[in-house]
Amino acid sequence: MQLCGSRPGKSIYQWASTFMVAAWCALALLPRPAFAAQAPEPPSAGAAIRYDSATRVFRLDAAGVTYAFGVNEAGELQSLYWGARLAAGDSLAAAHSRPGWASFEPPVDTTPQEFVAWGGGLYVEPDLKLTFPDGNRDLVLRYVSHRIDGNRLFVTMKDISLEVWVTLEYQIDPETGVLRRSATIENRTAGPFTIEQAFAATWNLPRGTDYRLRYLAGRWAGEWQVQQQPVHPGKTVLESRRGTTGAQNNPWFAIDREGENDPDHGGVWFGALGWSGSWEITVEQDQMRDVRVSGGFNNFDFGYLLQKGQSLRTPDFYAGYTQDGIGGASRLLHQFEIGSILPHAPTPPLRPVLYDSWEATGFGVDEAGQIALAEKAASIGVERFVMDDGWFGERNNDHAGLGDWYPSPQKFPHGLRPLIDKVHALGMSFGLWVEPEMVNPDSELYREHPDWVLYFPNRPRSEGRNQLVLNLARPDVRDWVFNTLNNLLNQNAIDFLKWDYNRNWSEPGWPQVPPDQEKNVYVDFIRNYYSILAELREKHPKLEIESCSGGGSRVDLGVMRYTDEVWPSDNTDAYDRLLIQNGFTYAYTPGVMMAWVTDSPSWANHRSLSLEYRFLSSMQGALGVGANLNRWTPEDFATAKKMIAQYKSIRETVQRGRLYRLIQPTEGSEQSATEYVGPDGRQTVVFAFLHSSSELYPYPRLCLRGLDRNAMYRVSVMDGRLDAGTPREASGAWWMNHGIDVDLSGDFQAAAFTLERETAPSRVP
Ligand code: DGJ
Repeated sequence: MQLCGSRPGKSIYQWASTFMVAAWCALALLPRPAFAAQAPEPPSAGAAIRYDSATRVFRLDAAGVTYAFGVNEAGELQSLYWGARLAAGDSLAAAHSRPGWASFEPPVDTTPQEFVAWGGGLYVEPDLKLTFPDGNRDLVLRYVSHRIDGNRLFVTMKDISLEVWVTLEYQIDPETGVLRRSATIENRTAGPFTIEQAFAATWNLPRGTDYRLRYLAGRWAGEWQVQQQPVHPGKTVLESRRGTTGAQNNPWFAIDREGENDPDHGGVWFGALGWSGSWEITVEQDQMRDVRVSGGFNNFDFGYLLQKGQSLRTPDFYAGYTQDGIGGASRLLHQFEIGSILPHAPTPPLRPVLYDSWEATGFGVDEAGQIALAEKAASIGVERFVMDDGWFGERNNDHAGLGDWYPSPQKFPHGLRPLIDKVHALGMSFGLWVEPEMVNPDSELYREHPDWVLYFPNRPRSEGRNQLVLNLARPDVRDWVFNTLNNLLNQNAIDFLKWDYNRNWSEPGWPQVPPDQEKNVYVDFIRNYYSILAELREKHPKLEIESCSGGGSRVDLGVMRYTDEVWPSDNTDAYDRLLIQNGFTYAYTPGVMMAWVTDSPSWANHRSLSLEYRFLSSMQGALGVGANLNRWTPEDFATAKKMIAQYKSIRETVQRGRLYRLIQPTEGSEQSATEYVGPDGRQTVVFAFLHSSSELYPYPRLCLRGLDRNAMYRVSVMDGRLDAGTPREASGAWWMNHGIDVDLSGDFQAAAFTLERETAPSRVP
């Protein structure tokens, strides 16, 4: 927790490490007048990529970031700098490979490289590892050429003798300085070879011994738990071997200096992979104490057969740097996702308030029941009605029906049209649940095409939730999935798909292709999944899609390019959600984070919470309602109507604003509080939660962040109470330094208030 006015001091270890970094920086920044003379100064805003042909140094600048690497005398791409933006006139010395260490660490290991293949005595993590048909496995890449195209840079490398070409792509985002990197491996040899490991990039950090790694771990119903640990000598591997992203680790990392306790201060290097299949991020501190982060396809069970003339592009690996602490890292990522990743970026539409039938009806959906719920949902201001699982084939429980995507004749004798028309007539858009990559063995589809799933012949086919995974890598299966969904969308006025995915892979065989090509499934499946999403969006431009995977098992910067929102967890308990949402927003914007208000006591852990508390918990993301409205009292409807109206008045601030974590709900904290400052700074919203008060301790004073200290702000309570002495109006300096007392006591209490910035004339001097 950050108390008003406090700034943590540095420990002796931190000072020592600061000195070491400064020394490293000084070495890397030896003055070299030729650089400034080579090309015009980079602008202070926007993005610039420059190459100095005299020193063979590439420099990328954007927002608050400078990134630099050079071609050294060995032809390797040597990392030179990644951190806070340097002055335009600062020059970076040419790259020189570092000496080896005794006879055990050759220079290829001691020299920090941008992208290095396994060969020539490499012991650190390689970015690329190949096996050739003649048994050779040695690959040594050297710089060949480059091309700069606006804010993109392409650097081509080639093996010292073989016709293996690799093109590295760099793109720097002008607004945030976030870099996107990938590698394309091209086979110009006379035969095939197998790619056993292919990473997008290696990111090298300044040498240091006081780094702290944060990452996200979890499990079904307990996703998004923030972990932190010192970066030690050796490797930490974050990964999914599951064929899909997974909730056990999410492909995101952040590294800062140990002991930096102000969430909005201090240098942070962070990154995330854009890949929804098996992935890997390796954080390694080597024997020379260099720290590198590399990532891409997971090399476990990997083996991509690349035929001659073919190429393979790795996933994108995004990374950024900020001096504004872990909170600043999140805010930069949020801004980047909204501005560059989401469909319709840089202006993706705000999320409508949604109702979903799952927790109310389970599989027991039918026309009359859904219409009754839709009428009630519309009466409280819901804008989108989603019919969840159970509407198709013989789907009365999770044992049957997946794969048979036509309306159940018993439940919907007239098809979906009467329901959809009614929902539209009520002024809401209509959404439908699908799980297109799955099949129940008890389905017409499986009886007809038992070979369409992932399997090894003559081996068991392990089921998860009584279902098997369709092999989307097969072109015929891919086309069937696309055509089925396309027809469903052509025949029905569906505005939104909730695209679910409720198990991981097992027995990932693809027996219809030659054995040495079977492992291509790890790439081809995901590429086809993306292509279906892309083609559906192209054919149905108004369609919106949610990525759901039994909760938050498929959330990453890859799928977010094709989906408008994501489902973070099946755990909808409003108190548990505080922790889940806290972790989620480390990496992903609250603007895509669906959060439903569901029944109390919660199915998850039988906790009872007031409707107000449940709403305030969900209002910190994209608000939805998932409760059984048939059980609500008139008072519940009145409360919900009021709070949904309130949400609409703060929605843009929450979904597009800057998030500050005032108190985190972690480590058994009795309180938590978040603050969202709207994109134009006019509105600020604060949510405060109390787990339980004890021994009469008052709620800690909340010192706000990110306000204009000279502007005047007027406070209004949305729910709960502020201390009686709270001024109605005060300067940003007051709210940030003096702080605000929220009057909360008891168990599971919550409050929310807004600050509206006054117009210019009332600014204080
Ligand atoms: C898992 C999802 O996370 C739930 O919201 C719901 O859609 C069920 N699947 C339906 O089977």
